[in-house]
Amino acid sequence: MSTSRTGGRRLPDFPWDSLRASRERAAAHQDGLVDLSVGTPVDPVAPELRAALASVSDQGGYPTTHGTRELREAVVAGLARRHGVVAVPTDAVLPTIGSKELVAWLPTLLGLGPGDVVAIPELAYPTYEVGARLAGADVVRLADGESPPPGTRLVWLNSPSNPTGRVLGAAALADAVATARELGAVVASDECYLALGWDTEPVSVLHPDVLAASGVGDSLSGLLAVHSLSKSSNFAGYRAGFLAGDPTLVAEVLEVRKHAGMIVPRPVQAAITAAMSDDRHLDEQRARYAARRDVLLPALRAAGFAVEHSEAGLYLWASRGEDAWRTVAWFADRGILVAPGDFYGPAGRNHVRVALTASDERIRAGAARL
Ligand SMILES: Cc1ncc(COP(=O)(O)O)c(C=O)c1O
Repeated sequence: MSTSRTGGRRLPDFPWDSLRASRERAAAHQDGLVDLSVGTPVDPVAPELRAALASVSDQGGYPTTHGTRELREAVVAGLARRHGVVAVPTDAVLPTIGSKELVAWLPTLLGLGPGDVVAIPELAYPTYEVGARLAGADVVRLADGESPPPGTRLVWLNSPSNPTGRVLGAAALADAVATARELGAVVASDECYLALGWDTEPVSVLHPDVLAASGVGDSLSGLLAVHSLSKSSNFAGYRAGFLAGDPTLVAEVLEVRKHAGMIVPRPVQAAITAAMSDDRHLDEQRARYAARRDVLLPALRAAGFAVEHSEAGLYLWASRGEDAWRTVAWFADRGILVAPGDFYGPAGRNHVRVALTASDERIRAGAARL
């Protein structure tokens, strides 16, 4: 990936800027653009969650960085009810301003710097690399089954994966945890698509099966789970996420965030509390995405694409065995915008990522054009 000098640090070029020409070409389609690129939610926020947001809009005082006790209790209960996670103490939860900022700043918040290594998946959400670079740390991409090198202080896992939709089972997660612990590295598991399992049920790194199989009983030591409400509750515009896991690490991160003013606004805290206390809106949203997947997946296959992994999450990872940018152009000629796989690492050069985040009407239009 090429880099530019930004803010005194070497950051990658912002990948989406390079899609501008393809977007223009796709938007010229006579029936309009079908945008399956960025993956921004298009469905409305549930009325009861909007009401929760508004319910505290008269409170002008500073919110607490740690989040209200109600928020943290709702997160603990929601993790147990939805994902079978039972070992998280109420204090070991911390709301974040969406999860992207946490991903970008976690190495810095943990005190990593030059000489430290951050290990990320071979195909990965670009912000893991950005976060390491912001801290001045080195990045290594780990291929399947590859162990992190000595000097690794932070290992990112992401199941279900962006971009591939791949799910790591409890045994694979436990292996990754055990290997990281041998090195004394923190494991940060980005679980922002955990509620969106289709062909398989994704597991949290904090699940008792993972803890038991990694050989440390119910200890959360060195483990952090990163969650987002952007996709599951359509809160992308609210900026709402949370961190949960090792109480000592969460306390350290909280301490720095208090100093740095990284505080979730009070109305958003109320919305997170409501969203984590209610599963009905989540079930409705899951059903919408499942229906869109049922339209797009067979259409891609019928058009000659191999769709790999994609058993969970919001994306289909598709290939015609050619350079990703040729495939992006092929889609753009049909008025459809998709993301080239090399946005997520060199190993994605022959794939494109197709998002399920468009309206039912646009998804049907896209499928018909294929
Ligand atoms: C893997 C992954 N992590 C984190 C994020 C950040 O999401 P947000 O900041 O909306 O919580 C995204 C967004 O697409 C993502 O795909």
